[in-house]
Amino acid sequence: MALKALVFDLDGVITDSAELHYQAWKRLSEELGLYFDREQNEALKGVSRIGSFEIILRNNNKLDAYTEEEKETLANRKNEYYKELVETLTEKDILPGIQQLLIDARAMGLKTAIASVSRNAPRVLEKIGLSDYFDTIADAAKVKRSKPDPEIFLTCAEQLGVDPVDCIGLEDSQAGIEAILSAGMYAVGINVTITGSSPDLILSSTSELSLELLVRNYLPKK
Ligand code: BG6
Ligand code: MG
Repeated sequence: MALKALVFDLDGVITDSAELHYQAWKRLSEELGLYFDREQNEALKGVSRIGSFEIILRNNNKLDAYTEEEKETLANRKNEYYKELVETLTEKDILPGIQQLLIDARAMGLKTAIASVSRNAPRVLEKIGLSDYFDTIADAAKVKRSKPDPEIFLTCAEQLGVDPVDCIGLEDSQAGIEAILSAGMYAVGINVTITGSSPDLILSSTSELSLELLVRNYLPKK
């Protein structure tokens, strides 16, 4: 038993794409006459595309206003807006400390994975120039159960060929922390508003991250 891999959430950990999701949902909400603000956006972190739209509809007491098919079409429209914004991302949008951590992890022989429920994760990584730093990306389209279910973290461990207990998971959402803990991984929470289980290590920003810090604090769960 030893640390073998780092499994990262993408949005809010590698890059701050939550703001882009906010802008895309805001544009759709305005078109549909729905109220949506940054506070509501917080609750969408780590939530699937359609799940996010349902939260916005519920907040507006409009959950029954659209059929499943209409909801799908509208959520896809939001995704087109989001994809336009993703094209504006560059290396400058990598959050502080992340690239160095990835370089150091590689140098130490650790494996790296992305556990994001975003179907846009591969394109986001391409745009910020980090695709080559990851050994595997979980296919969000194939993951059946959203965070807080551990499925996506377990899928990453399986794809890497490592035991979950030998992994550190890094997340910025409460649902993600629950998923990491249920997967049996060591959980690092970054800028998380804690409303449930506490991560094993709490950091207020990615700039506090370093491989040395992770190695020093990591304790396997077995
Ligand atoms: C998560 C984001 O990473 O991906 C959520 O935190 C988003 O806000 C979800 O809804 C799904 O993303 P996408 O790109 O597939 O619509
Ligand atoms: Mg996140």
